Amino acid sequence: MNKSITLANGRTIPVVGFGTWQAPQGETTTLAVCTALETGYRHVDAAAVYANERYVGDALRSFLNESGTPREELFVTSKVWNTERGYDTTLAAFERTLKDLQLEYLDLYLIHWPASPSRFADWETVNAETWRALEHLHEQGLVKSIGLSNFYVQHLEALLRHARVLPTVNQIELHPGQLQPEVVACCREHQIAVEAWSPLGTGRMLQNQTLAEVAARYGKSTAQVCIRWSLQHGFIPLPKSVTPERIRENIEVFDFELSAEDMALIDSMPYCGGSGLHPDEVDF
Ligand code: A2P
Repeated sequence: MNKSITLANGRTIPVVGFGTWQAPQGETTTLAVCTALETGYRHVDAAAVYANERYVGDALRSFLNESGTPREELFVTSKVWNTERGYDTTLAAFERTLKDLQLEYLDLYLIHWPASPSRFADWETVNAETWRALEHLHEQGLVKSIGLSNFYVQHLEALLRHARVLPTVNQIELHPGQLQPEVVACCREHQIAVEAWSPLGTGRMLQNQTLAEVAARYGKSTAQVCIRWSLQHGFIPLPKSVTPERIRENIEVFDFELSAEDMALIDSMPYCGGSGLHPDEVDF
């Protein structure tokens, strides 16, 4: 399995990203991102609402300065938060994020959540205006690729009616028990790569008996099985950890392969927990 894949716009993206949702404000996050980069992760997934981009940025800056790794070898993502939807507000939010991350450009910038019909009469226009700002940033070369997060089929299809630059990625919650086949099929139809947030179900998968049994067959951990399952589906998993040994464990997923039977067994697992967040139901 390749460690990177090519997006529809020709750019490459490392297939395992380092998640930073729920990483704290402070040095713990800087140390975790430094550990990830030193361990070999080349893809960091950030967002303004995680309120830790400054600390992620400290790690990126110190790693780039100290390792001599060229900036082009890193893939850094951020997302515009819901309170900043719209053209001008998105551009301003992007500037703050770029400053916090201490970078000259981002590899990927996403709309974090769609404005949904359940909360906005003009949801389609709101999303189109936010997208127009991302297109502008893309044209300026400040963002190499642009994409979406938490867009389900109706949000995605509506956005595609307005987009001049096509989204390259849709980042959705995906883990055993939450396969989201309709959204995934819609993304595939439009050559949109699928990123998996919370590939460990924010840790909830790790107590699951079926997954533990599969893991034992390969001499791997349950976390590694979840990440490998995600990769074998062609998703781009973004496991988060601030614990050095787990950070290392979560990227050691290229030396084994789940059999077709074990893939099918995991696919058949019922819903066994997750964030419970749905874009048409969230109140933020
Ligand atoms: P921590 O950050 O304290 O190490 P997800 O990526 O699905 O959102 O899951 C993140 C959660 O899973 C965090 O609570 C993280 O804890 C925990 N976690 C991440 N990797 C592992 C692992 N390899 N083993 C056990 N727990 C893990």
